[in-house]
Amino acid sequence: MSRLKIGVVGAGKIFRGSHVPGWASHPDAELTALCDIDRECAETLAVQLGVARVYTDYREMLEQEELDAVDICTPNVLHSEVAIAALEHGQHVFCEKPDAISPEEAQRMADAASSSGKLLMAMRNNRFTPAARFLKAYIDSGAMGEIYTGRAGWVRRRGIPGRGGWFTNKAMSGGGPLIDLGVHMIDLAVWLMGNPRPVAVSGAAYAKFADSALSDAEDSAFGNVLEGGVFDVEDLATGFIRFDNGATLQIEFSWASNVEEGLKFVELRGTQAGCSLKNGDLKLMTEIGHVLCDIVPRFPAGGLAPHAEHIHHFIECVLGREKPVNDPEGGVDMIRILSAIYESAARGAEVRLD
Ligand SMILES: NC(=O)c1ccc[n+]([C@@H]2O[C@H](COP(=O)([O-])OP(=O)(O)OC[C@H]3O[C@@H](n4cnc5c(N)ncnc54)[C@H](O)[C@@H]3O)[C@@H](O)[C@H]2O)c1
Repeated sequence: MSRLKIGVVGAGKIFRGSHVPGWASHPDAELTALCDIDRECAETLAVQLGVARVYTDYREMLEQEELDAVDICTPNVLHSEVAIAALEHGQHVFCEKPDAISPEEAQRMADAASSSGKLLMAMRNNRFTPAARFLKAYIDSGAMGEIYTGRAGWVRRRGIPGRGGWFTNKAMSGGGPLIDLGVHMIDLAVWLMGNPRPVAVSGAAYAKFADSALSDAEDSAFGNVLEGGVFDVEDLATGFIRFDNGATLQIEFSWASNVEEGLKFVELRGTQAGCSLKNGDLKLMTEIGHVLCDIVPRFPAGGLAPHAEHIHHFIECVLGREKPVNDPEGGVDMIRILSAIYESAARGAEVRLD
């Protein structure tokens, strides 16, 4: 079998650090073309990776190459445009999160996937940690009973990615930590809860650290600071989501806030047990023989990083050997939640989604 030919659009930090190990370690895929508007960086990387061709215009890459799939790692605003072009061109698409910066764009991507018959998959690396996979199987076995409420968040004390660059420019990013970090942890919580449909949200958003000298990327490896650039997104968002089965989820995301410590978490409460996943450490809170018990699962060290695991899953799905763990319609729901939280924050009222 010949290897899947992969073209990349956007060869920046996430591609270099987290996607390359995924593509490079799978025997059935090869990176055949790189596209980035920064030709020099892309050419240097192409030499390092042994990638044959470099482009600065993704449409030209789609025309010139016979690709099987396209990996999109551009700033958020371009995800839908590039994904739709690639799908219409007959390629499968793996796209970084957030799927898109508006529900309408996410829906257009889902529609393009459906009419092309090609696979569209957005990055959900947090579903691919050993703890998350174990927890999903534990919950699906019924061991937690009915999950009726939870909390999810990612709070940084100081960690604005590239102040002034594309991350802090709403037109390029779609928003601040809510869309940047929320897409990870809300997705993880909703997936673990069994994908209930969101019916209403309430949210608040704040921007207090745009001008702080202390706000830069101490706790974020991403983004490049651009002096005098735009900062028109929130730096903290909180919210409350109601689902069609009566379950609820409290959320909190910040790039900068005066918290004691940075925390990335999902905590769910079920009728039979609860779970707490904090900065990667999982604990199950249950009752055995009328005794309250905390269970701390231990996972073997090593293995692929979760981003690479998800890329392997994408390849296996393209080859028909696995079934997608996330689908475009779920992505539309995810972006609808985020967009409604922004709307609720702006209006100061709950927003219905049903
Ligand atoms: N899953 C994760 O853990 C994770 C972490 C960080 C970033 N991300 C996502 O990855 C994406 C990229 O983030 P990043 O931190 O790598 O950003 P980055 O700025 O480092 O890289 C983006 C790259 O896209 C290129 N680019 C811009 N416009 C382009 C165009 N029209 N055609 C081709 N290339 C273009 C830029 O030159 C740059 O090299 C974002 O969507 C971000 O949300 C995901």
